[in-house]
Amino acid sequence: MEKIKPVDQRSLRNALGCFATGVTVITGCGPDGVLLGFTANSFNSVSLEPPLVLFSLDKRANSLGAFFESQNFAVNVLSDEQRALSGNFARPHPDKWNNIAYTTWETGCPILIGALASFECHTRERYDGGDHVIFVGEVIHMATDPSKKPLLYFRGAYGKLSPEVH
Ligand SMILES: Cc1cc2nc3c(=O)[nH]c(=O)nc-3n(C[C@H](O)[C@H](O)[C@H](O)COP(=O)(O)O)c2cc1C
Repeated sequence: MEKIKPVDQRSLRNALGCFATGVTVITGCGPDGVLLGFTANSFNSVSLEPPLVLFSLDKRANSLGAFFESQNFAVNVLSDEQRALSGNFARPHPDKWNNIAYTTWETGCPILIGALASFECHTRERYDGGDHVIFVGEVIHMATDPSKKPLLYFRGAYGKLSPEVH
């Protein structure tokens, strides 16, 4: 362990990056039918009964207003074959939906083809979270693909699960 540090932004980012996560693309559908999507590793489970999940979105994100107004979102947990999708949806460019394969279920939020798991949610709460907004949603549909493995994110870099050793 290094020495204890004051909480400056760079050190905080580095320390938080020690928490290894999966990678998701959070999607939505704006009122004018415009598709929303951004890469997020702030996704987490909240409650089983009722079934609640959360993510947080930067207040500076282009899609903040549309997600805030929307009644629904979907969470797509990326597989280790979908690293390019993570990069694509981590940029604020308007063409990010070009050539992306997806389907829709009940709400119209895009469900990415090839995801390890997808959750369709009704937005239940929006909480202030400093420079982010925390969205809590109730899961109304989900699907998983047992044949796929997760894309991982650790210390600012992508990774994969190593084969299990027993
Ligand atoms: C692995 C990874 C995880 C990310 N997680 C989040 C997150 O949880 N919340 C967030 O607001 N931005 C996150 N970002 C950054 C957004 O994906 C990025 O700012 C995106 O351009 C926002 O889209 P928008 O501006 O079109 O809304 C993450 C980026 C990467 C590469």
